[in-house]
Amino acid sequence: MDINKNMIKDKLDDLKQHPVKILGLLYPYILIVGVLIGYIYLNNVSNIGRNTVPLIFLDTASQDKDLPLIQPNVVPKTDVMALSQPSDALVSKGKALFSTTCVSCHGVEGKGDGVAGAALNPKPRNFTSASGWINGSKISGIFKTLSEGVPGSGMVAFDTFSPEEKIALSQYIRKTFVVNPPVDTKDELTDLSQKYKLTEGAQNPGQIPIKDAMALVIQDGQTKYDKVISALKQITNDSNNNGAEIFNKVTNNKVKALTALTSTEEWKKNEQVFVDLVVNELGDAGFNSNVHSLSGSDWDTFYNYMSKLL
Ligand code: HEC
Repeated sequence: MDINKNMIKDKLDDLKQHPVKILGLLYPYILIVGVLIGYIYLNNVSNIGRNTVPLIFLDTASQDKDLPLIQPNVVPKTDVMALSQPSDALVSKGKALFSTTCVSCHGVEGKGDGVAGAALNPKPRNFTSASGWINGSKISGIFKTLSEGVPGSGMVAFDTFSPEEKIALSQYIRKTFVVNPPVDTKDELTDLSQKYKLTEGAQNPGQIPIKDAMALVIQDGQTKYDKVISALKQITNDSNNNGAEIFNKVTNNKVKALTALTSTEEWKKNEQVFVDLVVNELGDAGFNSNVHSLSGSDWDTFYNYMSKLL
């Protein structure tokens, strides 16, 4: 025993004098920990890191979403304070809208048992029960629901309704189905009015998808092109007609002249606009200086002929 103790004591003394030797003793443990970390790391490398799954490059071009179609609409100025008092007219307006648009899900009695709502999860709101309301049954709450929908449910936004129609609907629902409907405070109504800019009203210009817009531009160009070609044919056929004769006399470039005249409808308003257009644009629009020698009655003939032609 004593020998052992002495040996340990000697070793400890030795270590005290040469602390670097501790590393030698710890070396196997460091090695084991290192291997362990490496093992854990390899186990957690993603598939891409291991290269076991081929990379797929997404075709980002094919994922481009076009602009959605937005109908232009005018939101009339709305006096929320006035409409917050349910008039008979307002309530019956709401009733009519409700039976055409909402009954399918919310049911005739507002219990959320309409046929179209049967398969929905969450179920359409039962207006006669006080529980479950997300935006609430105040005018401001129902208005919000109708403007924004309830995300993640079958209740979509009904944005084609005017603010007055939305308030009419909420008045009808509150009056007919909701038991003891809570009343909006003045502040809540003011907030509602401000949030949806109801006192100002709005004019939303609408928007069409780019691909439709392109098609329209091409179509428009195509119709104009067709118009020019058929006018040109007609003029050739009409060679004995005074109007066609004048056209031939005053143009250097017939296609250019016809294109200039099809690009705007302005000149069809009256003869003076027509004369101004031809004289002012002259060379640019394919006409020549012979226009200056046209008499008043020549202009009449020319104008009448071109108006009929295009
Ligand atoms: C396609 C079925 C469907 C139609 C149509 C529908 N709703 Fe809903 N509505 C729902 C569903 C589903 C909910 C429940 C949403 C939830 O709980 O998340 C709901 C909830 C509501 C709520 C309660 C929102 C809240 O605060 O919890 C109101 C108010 C409402 N609808 C009004 C209307 C009105 C008014 C119409 C007609 C203009 C209408 N709904 C048409 C399905 C519909």
